[in-house]
Amino acid sequence: MHVISSLFILALLIGLVFLGVGVLDLQYLFGVIIPYAAITLFLAGVILKVLKWAGAPVPFRIPTTCGQQKSLSFIKADNLEAPHNIWGVLGRMILEVFFFRSLFRNTKTEIKDEKIVYGSDKLLWAAGLAFHYSFLFIFLRHFKFFAEPVPQLMSIMQKLDGFFQIGVPELFLTDIVFIGAVTVLFIRRVVIPQVRYISLPADYFPLYLILGIGGTGICMRYFSKVDIVAIKQLATGLISLNPIVPEGIGIMFFIHFFLVCVLFVYFPFSKLMHFAGVFMSPTRNLINNSRVKRHINPWNPEVKVHTYAEWEDEFREVMKDAGMPLEKE
Ligand code: HEM
Repeated sequence: MHVISSLFILALLIGLVFLGVGVLDLQYLFGVIIPYAAITLFLAGVILKVLKWAGAPVPFRIPTTCGQQKSLSFIKADNLEAPHNIWGVLGRMILEVFFFRSLFRNTKTEIKDEKIVYGSDKLLWAAGLAFHYSFLFIFLRHFKFFAEPVPQLMSIMQKLDGFFQIGVPELFLTDIVFIGAVTVLFIRRVVIPQVRYISLPADYFPLYLILGIGGTGICMRYFSKVDIVAIKQLATGLISLNPIVPEGIGIMFFIHFFLVCVLFVYFPFSKLMHFAGVFMSPTRNLINNSRVKRHINPWNPEVKVHTYAEWEDEFREVMKDAGMPLEKE
């Protein structure tokens, strides 16, 4: 059901562009107003969410059980798993952000011969990594539309990406990896019963949206040609806050662009915020030194304690009379 309902929303969004641009001629709305609104909502949403997270109290270190924390000198500490200094935290963070290290350890649980067995599951990690890197590459390559002159780095990236020079225009490797990886992530969600069971529209919709963006982009590049010069005029106009919508931009571009806007608006309210969340995750970004340093909850209320010594002082005479042992005579 969730698989279908999310697809229906994507179809509705595409239908909206056909109606708005194709029938009602609202190019300015879809080419200028919606993109500006989307980027504003995106920035405001991300900033507010990060500020909200930053305000969440994290009084204690949260050591994970993966490695030995630093304690006694003769016990070997594992500075990457349980960092006791900033270098360990940096190492753990870099491996997490660039290589998805915790996902690499992901295991799958199956029942075989009436027994639970755990196995390695690297598919999610490989597809996740492939998707994120190809997305990043494509995203950066897109700056050629917004920058004039096109920075040399973009040209180099484009040359690298079209290395095999298959077809005209040459096929970008990242396009294949991008679509392939998102498809694997989608199929995994639908095919594995346990994963399907816990999947919600919030899991399917971003995948559809990303597939929609990639699909329309690929369509524009390889099949239904669009006027790139006009698109570049629109993009540079938007960036320089002098927006114009030139004639002759195909509907496929408006669908692509609108889906990107939807992605931007949807972003701060969705699980996609993990892109900022990973940096704020206490199990990744805190030094695990609870055995070396005592961390006291800073907002603990002042507690009036009554120590044993004080208690003994209070009842010393009575205790002595009763023949009870005393710590201090
Ligand atoms: C989340 C952001 C975006 C993603 C993931 C994305 C993805 C893609 C992909 C996969 C392609 C296929 C060809 C290629 O890899 O270059 C493509 C093409 C294209 N995209 Fe995007 N896109 C995004 C944002 C945008 C934006 C903001 C614009 C507005 C200028 C845009 C305009 C285009 C155009 C004009 C093409 C056709 C390129 C050509 O014919 O060479 N895209 N996009």
